[in-house]
Parts: sequence; structure tokens; C-alpha cells
Amino acid sequence: MTRRGSVWLFGGIIAVLSCFFQADARTDATIMTEPAVVNNMTSATLSCNLTNPSSEIKGHYWTRNGKIIDASKSTKQDPYTEFQIDKIDYHSSGIYACVFQTEPQVNATIEVKAAPHVAAYKHSEYGNENDRAVLVCVAHGYPLPTDWSWYKVPEGGSPKVPISNGTDDKYEIKNTPNKTTLYVKDLDISGDMGNYLCLGINDLGSAEDQIQLRVRSRLAALWPFLGIVAEVIILVTIIFIYEKRRKPDEIADDDDSGSAPLKSNSATNHKDKNVRQRNSN
Ligand SMILES: *[C@@H]1O[C@H](CO)[C@@H](O)[C@H](O)[C@H]1NC(C)=O
Ligand SMILES: *[C@@H]1O[C@H](CO)[C@@H](O)[C@H](O)[C@H]1NC(C)=O
Ligand SMILES: *[C@@H]1O[C@H](CO)[C@@H](O)[C@H](O)[C@H]1NC(C)=O
Ligand SMILES: *[C@@H]1O[C@H](CO)[C@@H](O)[C@H](O)[C@H]1NC(C)=O
Ligand SMILES: *[C@@H]1O[C@H](CO)[C@@H](O)[C@H](O)[C@H]1NC(C)=O
Repeated sequence: MTRRGSVWLFGGIIAVLSCFFQADARTDATIMTEPAVVNNMTSATLSCNLTNPSSEIKGHYWTRNGKIIDASKSTKQDPYTEFQIDKIDYHSSGIYACVFQTEPQVNATIEVKAAPHVAAYKHSEYGNENDRAVLVCVAHGYPLPTDWSWYKVPEGGSPKVPISNGTDDKYEIKNTPNKTTLYVKDLDISGDMGNYLCLGINDLGSAEDQIQLRVRSRLAALWPFLGIVAEVIILVTIIFIYEKRRKPDEIADDDDSGSAPLKSNSATNHKDKNVRQRNSN
């Protein structure tokens, strides 16, 4: 080994040792969590035990998915805290954290896992013949589904038929952890009507929901429009007839009021003349 090499080696050993000493000197605050993960349980008590706090503990609280959950944000200087979850389901699942208000603040997390919750965005959808239908299911809970699948449910309870992405250019599936979307293209009245089932799966279980798809014929889609057209035609006709009938009355009205030119009814209408004279007085 060259002289230079041994100097480097020696320097390296000193550096590593001093690192160890420093770490030892200011033993970090640590939080022991119990349990580490909550898996497949119906209820649980989460706990955190803080050792070697870096400063005085001003209090502690719990969060779930980043939001504070225990209203009684304790001001106890206790280095130990517990949180009780009575019922574990998709609603109470999430990433829990206990936060100790020291300087600086420290926290530790506990994952609480449950089977997901899956719900159709709308339980019934309509589509027009030859158009495209969009069926959506969303998931809640922690963890979100790692897998999604869709099935067509035939009438009369026969076994459900899996739908795969891209089949015959008929179906397209788009997934994110919290949402699955099934596009049914070129809708056909006899073939595509019916119930569709979405299924979301995570490590702890699965959940599903159904959507009923109805397909309207093109003509049916036209009915409301034809209705409006018919309505407009009837309205116009009524107005037209009314105007036609009103015209003669209107002329008579105008004469009575005296605003019509005189020449048209010379001496034939004495009564009219009287009225006009009265008016001019
Ligand atoms: C917290 O941890 C310390 C050190 O490991 C231990 O002595 C103490 O009993 C624990 N406290 C609780 C409430 O578990
Ligand atoms: C926990 O600590 C980390 C790192 O210090 C911080 O980014 C995070 O926001 C803290 N979480 C909570 C819930 O306070
Ligand atoms: C389905 O296929 C489309 C197009 O090929 C693709 O963009 C999409 O990511 C696929 N979806 C899934 C769930 O694999
Ligand atoms: C799904 O997640 C995205 C971001 O990943 C978020 O913007 C959206 O609000 C979530 N949707 C639901 C229904 O939770
Ligand atoms: C969850 O618990 C049930 C019964 O308690 C068990 O049958 C199932 O296999 C468990 N699942 C996991 C993922 O541990």
C-alpha cells in the first residue's frame, strides 16, 4: 500500500468513527408504534411511545390521511398516546399518524387497511343506438383497489361474463386506483342493454356494484325533437288563425276610436259622425 493510500484509509476510518460518535451523542427521538400495520381486523388500538424527545412535549394529536382526527388535541406532556378505532372499514381505513409537539415536531405513521368500497357513479345509464356509453365506478378506502374488472350480467342469473379491454373494438377500460371507466362503443339495442358489474380488489378483499345500461333507438332519440317541432307548428297555426279572425274586428275598433281616415266612410255612418263630433268638443 502506498503512503498516500494509507493516509486516505486512515482518514476514512476517522470520518466513519466520528459519524458514529455524533449519532451516539445526540440520540434521536424515536417513536415506537403498536401495531406497525393494521391488517384485516375489526377494531384496533393504535399507540405511539416517544423516547428521547428533543425538547419538552407540549402535546400530541392524531391524523388520518393528513387531517387531524382527535378533537381533544391533548396538551398532556405524556410521551405515550393511544387512538381507538372501534370499527375498521373502508371509512376508517387510512394512513394514521401520531404527532408529538416537540421542537421540532415528530410523528410516526400506522397503516390501517381494509377492503375497498366500490360504488357506481350512476346506477343507470342511457345511450343512443350507435353512440358510446360511459360507465363509471369509484372506490374509497385504504388501500385503493390494485385491480379492477368488469362483467356483463345476463338476465336470469346466468354466470357473469368477463369483459376485456379492447375486445372487438367494442369495449375500452380505463383504470386509476380510485376510478374505473368502461366505454361501450357502437351501442346495439339487442346486444348491449343490461347490467354491468364493476369489481375492485385490494390485498384485503373486494367490492362490487352494478350499473344498468339502456339503449334507445335513434328514432326514440328524435321524439323529443319532433315533439318540439310539432308544438311550434301548432302554436304558429293558432296564432295565424287568431290573427286572421281578429283583423275585421280591429278595423271596426279603429273606426270607433276615430283615428281612421274620414274619406273611407263618407256619410253612411251617422252614429260614427256623432261620436267624432263629441270627441272634438
Ligand atoms: C415506552 O417505551 C419505554 C422505553 O422503551 C418503556 O420503558 C415504556 O414502558 C413504554 N411505555 C409504554 C406506555 O408502553
Ligand atoms: C410527519 O413528519 C414528516 C417529516 O418530518 C412531515 O413531512 C409530515 O408532514 C408529518 N406528518 C404529520 C401528519 O404531521
Ligand atoms: C385498455 O386499452 C387502451 C388502449 O389500448 C389503453 O389506453 C388502456 O390503458 C387499457 N386499459 C387497461 C385497464 O389496461
Ligand atoms: C381520485 O384521485 C384523484 C387524484 O389521484 C383525485 O383528484 C380525485 O378527487 C379522486 N376521486 C375520488 C372520487 O376520490
Ligand atoms: C382476513 O381474515 C379472514 C377471517 O378473519 C380470513 O379468512 C382472510 O384470509 C384474511 N385475509 C387476509 C388478507 O389476511
